[in-house]
Amino acid sequence: MTLSAASHWRQAFHLCPPRGLMNDPNGLVWFQGAYHVFYQWHPDACQHGLKQWGHYRSTDLVHWTSLPVALAPEHDYESHGCYSGSALVDQGGLVLLYTGNVRKGELRESYQCLARSSDALTFDKLGPVIPAPPPGFTQHFRDPKIWKDGDTYWLVIGAQTEAGQGTVLLYRGRSPESWQWTGELLPERCHGYMCECPDLFRLDDTDILLFCPQGLPAQGQRFNNRHAAGYVAGRLNAEQGAMQHGEIIELDRGFDFYAPQTLQDPQGRRLMLGWMGLPDEDQTPTVADGWTHCLTLPRALHWEGGLLRQTPPVEMQQLRGPHTRLPARFFNGTLELSQIGGDCFELVCEVQPGLSRCWGLDVRVDADHFTRLLWQADGNSLSLDRQASGEGDGGVRHTRLAAGASVRLHVFVDRSSIEVFVNRGEQVFSARIYPPADAQAIRLFAEGEVQLTRLDFWPLHAPSVCREGVE
Ligand code: FRU
Repeated sequence: MTLSAASHWRQAFHLCPPRGLMNDPNGLVWFQGAYHVFYQWHPDACQHGLKQWGHYRSTDLVHWTSLPVALAPEHDYESHGCYSGSALVDQGGLVLLYTGNVRKGELRESYQCLARSSDALTFDKLGPVIPAPPPGFTQHFRDPKIWKDGDTYWLVIGAQTEAGQGTVLLYRGRSPESWQWTGELLPERCHGYMCECPDLFRLDDTDILLFCPQGLPAQGQRFNNRHAAGYVAGRLNAEQGAMQHGEIIELDRGFDFYAPQTLQDPQGRRLMLGWMGLPDEDQTPTVADGWTHCLTLPRALHWEGGLLRQTPPVEMQQLRGPHTRLPARFFNGTLELSQIGGDCFELVCEVQPGLSRCWGLDVRVDADHFTRLLWQADGNSLSLDRQASGEGDGGVRHTRLAAGASVRLHVFVDRSSIEVFVNRGEQVFSARIYPPADAQAIRLFAEGEVQLTRLDFWPLHAPSVCREGVE
């Protein structure tokens, strides 16, 4: 058994690297009857380093096959890594656009490179198609996301102005080989010092631009992580290379969410996966086991009432084991839920707080540990508290909820993570947690009487990941 497989924090149903470090999802695409998820992979160590594109494939978003590395540095234009990028199905084949990262001492060069494939197994590298950023922007220029509209190709790319401001640039192409800079989509100066991993798509007549502003200062409960992932919504004027948009909204209120990317699948769903990690946070407890980081669950995106909602796709239900439904009831004080528990499960819990001061749900509980979701009447806020979760970083993250008579938490716990979809995905918390393996109890508690109107629980099975040609 490899070190990685022996780790008791090894995720059961999230995509992890076979070994080494995983970061951004790349090249998300539906191609030849399957979902493809490529990812930034440094197989040789649990630090950032010479990045390759690892590759997973699935027909159902749940059972994944690990395929051989798709892109690895070979040429001068990518000598220090095949960095993040995207995929497009074009004329029956697959187009990959990615950033060739080159370091020359302290200096950096970034080349936007093209590769093509007819089978998603072998890739022909065609070299740089955008050899440098436009005038006025630095070599922090990476992560092209490509799409096609009619006969025209488009891409957005993360950039930095020479004044040191993060922004997103738009390019237009006659083909994936030939690009022309069209404009800057985030011209105001409030997006940190660099924007990484942009994505742009339309949902219900609204254009949504995802991006990761680095180094945004915290604003109260917002932007509490060192690097953020957010979106703006509005209207893209592609011809003029400009976007009218509202303010940036964080995509996730937890601790570990970055570099999300989306694809549209044949059912028309806009699905998003993110990296359940952050740049500059590599000392995770699984490093000792030879691997670090993982991706989030896939999430379906919906545009409703001026808000991007995220929901787990229905395919996740394939993982469900026997269902337990607890009776609805009023309670006050602590309610140990001895009928349910585990380290891999899905739980839906709905509570009407009434006049209570607070209520909460603890998971991964033993005598000394718990991971807490706490609702407080004061401010109608919800927090995720991992101070007593176990090893790794602690901390608390808060968010204010929209007014409503009840609070619904849809929780996915894997061996070293928690993802919470709040009120049908209006907000999501994602975090890595590292509890002892046998911290498996679940409890509810309240100060003041609350009504538990629903509690459904399913243990989740670990789907096996098959490997084809991955050592
Ligand atoms: C985001 C990022 C990207 C870059 C990649 C390198 O996490 O820094 O901007 O392409 O990771 O692995």
